[in-house]
Amino acid sequence: MTISSTEHVPVLAQELIDLLQLEPQHIVVDLTLGRGGHAKLVIERLSKEGTFIGLDADITQIAALKSMGLINQTHTPQTHTESQARTVLLHSNFDKVGQVLKSLNIACVDRIYADLGLSSVQLLDEKRGFSFQSSTLDMRLDPSSPHTAEEVVNTLTEADLNEIFEQYGEEREASRIAEAIVTSRKTHPINTAKELSEIVRQAKRNHFKKVHPATQVFQALRIYVNDEFGTLKRMLQQIPQLLCAHGRFAIITFHSLEDRIVKNTFKQWEKDGICKRINKKVVSPQWSERKVNPRARSAHLRIIEKI
Ligand SMILES: C[S@@+](CC[C@H](N)C(=O)[O-])C[C@H]1O[C@@H](n2cnc3c(N)ncnc32)[C@H](O)[C@@H]1O
Repeated sequence: MTISSTEHVPVLAQELIDLLQLEPQHIVVDLTLGRGGHAKLVIERLSKEGTFIGLDADITQIAALKSMGLINQTHTPQTHTESQARTVLLHSNFDKVGQVLKSLNIACVDRIYADLGLSSVQLLDEKRGFSFQSSTLDMRLDPSSPHTAEEVVNTLTEADLNEIFEQYGEEREASRIAEAIVTSRKTHPINTAKELSEIVRQAKRNHFKKVHPATQVFQALRIYVNDEFGTLKRMLQQIPQLLCAHGRFAIITFHSLEDRIVKNTFKQWEKDGICKRINKKVVSPQWSERKVNPRARSAHLRIIEKI
């Protein structure tokens, strides 16, 4: 059975839980709450001496978690019917994790983890413009971010668009696509994801039949609009100072460029004698998970421990 693409199923959940080696009193930070799939498994393992802090840059994710009661939040330590741990959910980009912990008067934490990218719920939300058939072209995780994808495709130069598609999407036909976008917007602005995906489809000479021809262009735009590599690097820089001794940090990536940033950062920390890698080799989903959950196919999990 393949999992329906409308539900968000946490990827590498068992592997993440096993490698985190949680203890009931731990202070744990989830940097990418999403729909709380991983979070619920973590909170279940904490006692009333434990603390769970969850962040998401998308306020609609936090609002859904709260309104659907998927995770119950307690601002002060108290026993709760669902989870005994103190649980704090906050709308914040993870590149502000240091400030968040400071504002909560937390000097260091035992576990931090992130599951990058988007949840299926966001990808399929028509109003967000992430999917090829959307009638908008926004792509911002946080509506207060400065630029929408619509502004990017309608205002950047052909050379800049080419660079974005090449660098962030590893798109081989980047220059043909950038040229087609600039030609098309001369007639009228590109306002929807649907129009953009059609322009890309027509511009491309070759594409693998299994994936939509605009996959890499959409990925590149999303990365650019949300400064995904910048936020990842700024977040990673803060991790060693935020972990207590023997604290662990785990991260799941879905993009080879993101994974490379993580791999090189971990290697550098090891070289500097700050952390040791728990798994020298990246952890990938088992065939059984990849078979039922298409999102899992490109997932990579890496984990380190502070010395
Ligand atoms: C793949 S989903 C996480 C799914 C979650 N682990 C679960 O099991 O339900 C990624 C989430 O991270 C959030 N996100 C992406 N980039 C972020 C950032 N820079 N800071 C905070 N949250 C971010 C997205 O809004 C999305 O909700």
